[in-house]
Amino acid sequence: MTRSPTPESVSMLPEAENVDLAASPRFECGRTVFARVSGSPVERSVRVSLPAAAHPGPGTGGVVRIEPSQPPRQNRRSIEKVTITMKISGNTVLVAGGTSGIGRGLAIRLHEAGNRVIVAGRRRELLDELVAAHPGMDAETFDITDNTSIRRLSETVTAKHPELNVLVAMAGIMHDEKVLDPDSLEVAERTVATNLLGPIRLIHAFAPFLVTRPEAAILTVTSGLAYVPLPASPTYSATKAAVHSYTESLREQLRDTSVQVIEIVPPLTRTRLRGDATDNERAMPLDDFLSETMSLLESEPDARQILVERVKGQRFAVADGTYGQVLAMQSGRTS
Ligand SMILES: NC(=O)c1ccc[n+]([C@@H]2O[C@H](COP(=O)([O-])OP(=O)(O)OC[C@H]3O[C@@H](n4cnc5c(N)ncnc54)[C@H](OP(=O)(O)O)[C@@H]3O)[C@@H](O)[C@H]2O)c1
Repeated sequence: MTRSPTPESVSMLPEAENVDLAASPRFECGRTVFARVSGSPVERSVRVSLPAAAHPGPGTGGVVRIEPSQPPRQNRRSIEKVTITMKISGNTVLVAGGTSGIGRGLAIRLHEAGNRVIVAGRRRELLDELVAAHPGMDAETFDITDNTSIRRLSETVTAKHPELNVLVAMAGIMHDEKVLDPDSLEVAERTVATNLLGPIRLIHAFAPFLVTRPEAAILTVTSGLAYVPLPASPTYSATKAAVHSYTESLREQLRDTSVQVIEIVPPLTRTRLRGDATDNERAMPLDDFLSETMSLLESEPDARQILVERVKGQRFAVADGTYGQVLAMQSGRTS
């Protein structure tokens, strides 16, 4: 999850590498993918962007030759970009929005994986339950719609846990809105304050501290709906698209720092985000989502996005030419 430049291993990079596509479960034609390089002195992942023409055939696997874009000896910044390594334990992680659902589940998984975890949210009783059930966890109350509360959280957590190096901006709300219903405006404004302004304020409060840490990460949380909106929840979908865009800019602004920026993109998942959806058959079981997410965090060392299989239909709808179909389906239209 956090960056750890290892320039020595880079010096072993050959001028070009053979990547076994059949052995690389992450290979996807024409996209930026992560491929495990085998047969080299150090097993590691490289990021490759292949044109469709380079692919030996869908599903067939094969071997392609990857030319490094820059010889490693020339530019230290490019060296560090290819040598980011995932660290899934030993971090101090703040899950901001971890009293329930995905945040709570991720906090527990990270705690079990050997991280120091601090959970934050509004509901004190849920925080107390979590800390009581998981000795070693810590908790703070905060409201992501209130900048004073965010600043207080930042001061408290960095004072109590000066080794903090990972921020997960998880808090979010989702409600239906009708543009012709005047009551929906309040819902829309609250959604923007929570889902968009909230993470921006949170990142402003924590980023200056995180850049002082030798290895750090900021994880934002968007949604498959960032890529194809759910018309019943227009502002929710718009805030998630905006957080995706913000995350892309954030990563560029922090590219010369120790802070890795990762976007978690959940699909419809069984939580209580939108009322009681815990038994929605179309939604991904929470445990499955958490297992796949933890496994991706571990296996994709310089991940920009965490994409479980279930979300790829939405994430790549434009590239796949299925955007209209997916939007129609999410609108409840048949054509
Ligand atoms: N479940 C899905 O299908 C799905 C799909 C895509 C993306 N996501 C995203 O995943 C994230 C977690 O959602 P979830 O599904 O786990 O729903 P959830 O169980 O309702 O969790 C939402 C979390 O956000 C916190 N939160 C909400 N408003 C807050 C506020 N004003 N201040 C501080 N914390 C606040 C809640 O804590 P308190 O209420 O205690 O404050 C809770 O811990 C959200 O960003 C959501 O958009 C979920």
